[in-house]
Amino acid sequence: ETKVWVIGDRDATDKAIAEAAGLLREGGVVAFPTETVYGLGADASNTAAVERIFAAKGRPSDNPLIVHIAERSQLECIVLPYGEIAAKLMERFWPGPLTLVLPVRPGAVSPRVTAGLDTVAVRMPAHPVALQLIVAAGCPVAAPSANRSGRPSPTRAAHVRDDLAGRIDGLIDGGAADVGLESTVVEIDGGRIRILRPGGVTPDALREAAGCEVELDEALGAPHAAEFGGAAAAADPAANPAGNGSGTAGDAPGPENDARVIGSPCAIAASGAAKAGFAPRSPGMKYAHYAPRGEMLLVEGDPEAVRLYIEAQEAAARLAGCRTGVLTFDERAANFRAGTVLTLGSEDRLEAAAHRLYDALREFDRLGVERIWAEACDPGGGIGLALMNRLTKAAGNRIVRV
Ligand code: TXA
Ligand code: MG
Repeated sequence: ETKVWVIGDRDATDKAIAEAAGLLREGGVVAFPTETVYGLGADASNTAAVERIFAAKGRPSDNPLIVHIAERSQLECIVLPYGEIAAKLMERFWPGPLTLVLPVRPGAVSPRVTAGLDTVAVRMPAHPVALQLIVAAGCPVAAPSANRSGRPSPTRAAHVRDDLAGRIDGLIDGGAADVGLESTVVEIDGGRIRILRPGGVTPDALREAAGCEVELDEALGAPHAAEFGGAAAAADPAANPAGNGSGTAGDAPGPENDARVIGSPCAIAASGAAKAGFAPRSPGMKYAHYAPRGEMLLVEGDPEAVRLYIEAQEAAARLAGCRTGVLTFDERAANFRAGTVLTLGSEDRLEAAAHRLYDALREFDRLGVERIWAEACDPGGGIGLALMNRLTKAAGNRIVRV
């Protein structure tokens, strides 16, 4: 039974925080809002509690968790002394959507949190409910995103309920998440910042705040090209295997969990589907991150070529009896005739698109959409990088360049 509190007036909020904090202190697991996505929290020093997070999510145990703090004083208990770059980043971006990977103070958090690594990922969220909850619990709170492993992260309490009702002790409903994509995860290495997962804090902002070089983890770079029914496609399933310590993916699912397996009967039945690259290329390709249940393909290129490609593919799949969907932007929504056409808003407002992404992916699921074509966008210098990263993951790395 999952207890749900809705954030409302002062009294309702105080009561929710006090009860949820009590559950955390007793070793319970509670979902709570942050400015990025909803998190599923437990006392970071309580191994049994942390194990319940992994069990509820179906998360592979070798994928480490982010520890959430409310005050800088909590940080010094968790990590070893850190350098000037880390200090500048905290100064500038905390509270906020930036996670720092730092050397862990031995014994400070459960080894389940770090998955046995000698580093720990830490963040101070910019959400009043999250901050109050951590203060009231009186301990750092380990919290991954509050979704079943492999599913899109939850940006609303209803998403958490859909994935985890009955599997967790509590859920604080604080309305829709502000950013809508997970935090930027960085490590500092040899005087440089390395982005392990792009997010709400952009490379330009990091560079400006720290005054040093910023690089993208190589797992985020151009994926290896693979033959994909004639189109050059990105298909690098090994780009971020679970628990390799580089942590670019959200919940790299292992074979033991319920993550979606690519290759549905619909895809095989659809004419030309196998050619279009929907058959698994390697065992690792069977699993996708941040993914809707339907099979998604990311299509990139000149807008007219993209339109023609999607139109032909979609018509063939529809004739074969598939429920089809297209994920696009306002500017081109009228171009498509798929069963379900969803837009992320204007291509000129990628912040809003990021905010909407996971809800759209879950909407395809609600409507039972089996095949989805998503239009790529120009990442630009801001949150577009994170948006394209999540779209790529949601598509299981299947990109077609036309
Ligand atoms: O915005 C967010 O970051 C949300 C909210 C709830 O704070 N949390 C979140 O957690 O997205 P999760 O577990 O879904 O993603 C954590 C990411 C994973 O990619 C993980 O591999 C990486 O951080 N990570 C955690 N500890 C790490 C470490 N010590 N070294 C490298 N990567 C790490
Ligand atoms: Mg996650």
